[in-house]
Amino acid sequence: MDNTWHAIAQSFQKSLKELYPDSEIEELFLMALEHHTQSKRIHYQHMKNEEASSRQIAFMQEVLAQLQTGRPIQQILGYAYFYGSVFEVNQDTLIPRPETEELVHLIKQDFKAIQTVNCIDIGTGTGCIPISLALHMPQHNYWAVDISPAALQVAKRNAQKHQVEIQFSQLDILEWQLVFQTDQYFDIIVSNPPYITPAEKKEMHRNVLDFEPHTALFVEDNAPLLFYDYIAEFAKQHLNQGGVLYFEINQYLGKETVELLSKKGFRSIELHKDINGADRIIKAKLD
Ligand SMILES: C[S@@+](CC[C@H](N)C(=O)[O-])C[C@H]1O[C@@H](n2cnc3c(N)ncnc32)[C@H](O)[C@@H]1O
Repeated sequence: MDNTWHAIAQSFQKSLKELYPDSEIEELFLMALEHHTQSKRIHYQHMKNEEASSRQIAFMQEVLAQLQTGRPIQQILGYAYFYGSVFEVNQDTLIPRPETEELVHLIKQDFKAIQTVNCIDIGTGTGCIPISLALHMPQHNYWAVDISPAALQVAKRNAQKHQVEIQFSQLDILEWQLVFQTDQYFDIIVSNPPYITPAEKKEMHRNVLDFEPHTALFVEDNAPLLFYDYIAEFAKQHLNQGGVLYFEINQYLGKETVELLSKKGFRSIELHKDINGADRIIKAKLD
């Protein structure tokens, strides 16, 4: 039997072709290879014809079996890369997306040279947004909330691993008026809330639909901007003068989200496109 790395790569291509394009399968194979052998992917060309050990074969077969069920590679390996750092992920957390890195980058550009301010992330998931901000801008104070206690556990471990201080609490943002301290003010309010409508489900890959937490993804068809509405109201009460609200948004609802904020009295509203040219980020102020 051929137990070379090349043969294993081919078995990935053959077994996953119904699920992913070829280039993505190669990426999945290389991620698993890097994880298990600690070899950098550029070494693959040299090790292609080497035999894998029985332990390595068993690992790659196990990863392949899980990938065949549609499970995302980040959940199988237990981590994802975001803005240059590694974050623990599991079935309770959204896998951080590249679009969200652009949101972090924008905030960093705006607040890097500013002295200590307060920042809150609403719907923090893995904690990737405030942790990345804290790593790049340690001078600021950070808070983060999520409705999911299980996600908060992961976020706390990520903050610990990266040795940054974030105050995490469980909060249903749709009930913030009932529970949130009224005297707390922020200079940065950021959120990447759930924004996918059920109508968009049919465009989605099985590995998202079957494996990522639906509370992190979906809103009702009849209220796609529900979270933006509540978070904007929260911002009206809790933004410091000169503070900024940042949202990641549904690419199909850029105009509607801008209108919502404008009606609520926000000014200097900027709609930014992501690297793929889709409407993705909104930045707004109250004064
Ligand atoms: C799209 S995910 C974003 C996760 C993370 N911030 C990121 O960018 O990768 C949305 C997050 O909002 C949380 N969430 C959903 N409903 C919520 C609610 N009512 N109150 C607070 N957080 C909520 C979910 O648990 C999830 O972690």
